[in-house]
Amino acid sequence: MLDVIDIHAYRGDSYILQGLSLRLEPQQVVGVVGRNGVGKTTLVRSIMGLTPVRTGQILLGSEDITRIPPHRIARKGVGIVPQGRQIFSDLTARENLQVASRPRRKEDESYEPWTLDRALSVFPQLRERLGTRGGKLSGGEQQFLAVARCLQGNPKLMLMDEPTEGLAPLLRQRLGKLIHQLKNDGLSILLVEQNLDFVLNFADYVYIMQKGRIVHESLPQELADNVQLRAHYLGI
Ligand SMILES: Nc1ncnc2c1ncn2[C@@H]1O[C@H](COP(=O)(O)OP(=O)(O)O)[C@@H](O)[C@H]1O
Ligand SMILES: [Mg+2]
Repeated sequence: MLDVIDIHAYRGDSYILQGLSLRLEPQQVVGVVGRNGVGKTTLVRSIMGLTPVRTGQILLGSEDITRIPPHRIARKGVGIVPQGRQIFSDLTARENLQVASRPRRKEDESYEPWTLDRALSVFPQLRERLGTRGGKLSGGEQQFLAVARCLQGNPKLMLMDEPTEGLAPLLRQRLGKLIHQLKNDGLSILLVEQNLDFVLNFADYVYIMQKGRIVHESLPQELADNVQLRAHYLGI
């Protein structure tokens, strides 16, 4: 589904991704955890084509998407739930969803398409907030709106950048259930997080990132069981 092969990337003059590789199988939730500043957002941006990759390769299926512009990567079925949500604060919730709408791709016709109605079913409270401007929504509403907005693009691969940031525990739980449900519906999800517990609960496989590289990969259980590993790389 997604193969990131030894990528190197810069932000300004800073060398951020220093030879990073990871892999995601279809219908898998893959977690990437790491402390603040290790390059998680840069990784997401590189996959989406928003930050240029100097060397290395990113494959979507068998297709090389390494140097393709973001709108074309989106058209190939990659969607993003960006860090900090990035909801348009002057547009209503409905408009935020409408601007992101993209028809289902021909090759994905086995999936049920994401209409406005179906996207609202992920968080029905949004229905009453459709006429409200993005900036007036609560943090939780904005986060679920960001997920619903991404779904409006009918992605097959969803990149989620710290979706639990600022969410109350109950909403985190709901988001986790939603991720599980989306996976069962056929989506593949790259879940970038600082929240290790969330990833251990909802990912099928987990990578730890440090200074722009992957320093550990395993099943979640192995990381859950290994206190030393967690302390060493994550300080928790
Ligand atoms: N626009 C930018 N220009 C220069 N450096 C940046 C920019 N954005 C982020 N950085 C730096 O890149 C490093 C990695 O950032 P980021 O990918 O956001 O990490 P994370 O998401 O893991 O917190 C940090 O040291 C950060 O200060
Ligand atoms: Mg980040």
